[in-house]
Amino acid sequence: MSTVQDSTEQEVRRIGAELADAFPSAGHSPMRALDSRAMELAARDRELKAALFRFVDVVPACRSLDDLARHLTGFLEEVPETPPSLAAAMRIAHTRPGRAALGAAAAGGVKHMAHRFIVGESPAAALEVLRGLWKRGVASTVDLLGEATVTEAEADNYARRCTEALEEIAREAARWPERPVLERDSAGRLPRANVSVKVSALTPLLRPDAPERGRDDAACRLRPLLRRARELDAHIHIDMESLDSREAVLELVLGLLREDEFREGPSAGLVLQAYLRDSPEQLTTILEWARSCPRTPPVQIRLVKGAYWDHELVEARQHGWPTPVFEVKADCDRNFEALTRRLVHARELVRVAIGSHNLRSVAHAIAVSRQAGGSDQDLELQVLRGLGDELQDALAASGLRVRTYCPVGDLVAGMAYLVRRLLENTSNDSFLHEQATGTPLEELLAAP
Ligand code: 2OP
Repeated sequence: MSTVQDSTEQEVRRIGAELADAFPSAGHSPMRALDSRAMELAARDRELKAALFRFVDVVPACRSLDDLARHLTGFLEEVPETPPSLAAAMRIAHTRPGRAALGAAAAGGVKHMAHRFIVGESPAAALEVLRGLWKRGVASTVDLLGEATVTEAEADNYARRCTEALEEIAREAARWPERPVLERDSAGRLPRANVSVKVSALTPLLRPDAPERGRDDAACRLRPLLRRARELDAHIHIDMESLDSREAVLELVLGLLREDEFREGPSAGLVLQAYLRDSPEQLTTILEWARSCPRTPPVQIRLVKGAYWDHELVEARQHGWPTPVFEVKADCDRNFEALTRRLVHARELVRVAIGSHNLRSVAHAIAVSRQAGGSDQDLELQVLRGLGDELQDALAASGLRVRTYCPVGDLVAGMAYLVRRLLENTSNDSFLHEQATGTPLEELLAAP
């Protein structure tokens, strides 16, 4: 190992240990905080995961919680070897009162789980949480649940909800106390109001066989949103979703942000998914774009692992395609670190945000950022509400800039989001799973 690598590793261990010490409730694990029963079951059973996965597909067609519960039971019935507790639950579903009880339990379970991940049914209801986070030294980005729209009217409605959310959050945020760490980096001011947007919700036409139709249709709704964000001094972040829409989304964002009218705002960002094998080439494309059309403020790149892993795997297998995602976690983690290094060294072109709940990945980002001579101010760390709460507080307590991704919406709209959280966190090699099962800190912080 070279001396540089050596000293990076020492720094990672030091920073990681410091953060772990700052975890507010030692011994309390995020996994335990989740509905651990469902998590355990799903982690053990591949078929169950597959059933959950198919269940997500019908969610947009469900109109009520009861409807959801009925579908969930239906899908679970297809699981060949049902875990004993579920088998018992399904037996009671053969009687009317039993079905009612199971429906209520499923709905209750889903509600309970949703409560941890979703901050409110409407932006107005979420404002109190956002204000509370801000006061504790935590910035937020709001995600309006409801993706993969199927009609123009739904897409219009989503765009309207985004505009209203921007307005409400900007109005409310103007009253928040000053938090210098969250409001400024060396490129300038950072907006308090921040909304994450999904392109699949902005157009019903996003299809891989005709990417330009979806891109153009989404542009018609994204343009007014960018204008409104600029007027309100708010940030718009475009999420990445599954691979089949990636080219359209990337072209849409890079195309719009290079238009003259958006060269000087609003503050905007996009996402790079490290689980994709070709993410290094994607980063090259993005950095070349940033070099060729500098904007003020610079675009922010949020590096994440990626939330559609199961989907990509199933999709590739069905078509007999090579899998586009890393299948071994250590490969993905190594790629994440390599991309972190490249991003940190490209800070004259882009603002950098690292989205992860993995203490090792986060400590590594802080270490390489400092080694590159950057100030902590120029590194944003992002976590998901309900999964990274302890890490979030530890980062804020350490004076680092942290932003929490806060979904807003009702349960039906949020179901696909919830199932993604369930799938990724029931994976046996997820970091949170390891942390919860008592893996020693030294191991958690080891190089992938
Ligand atoms: C998702 O919606 C967090 O954008 C990510 O799963």
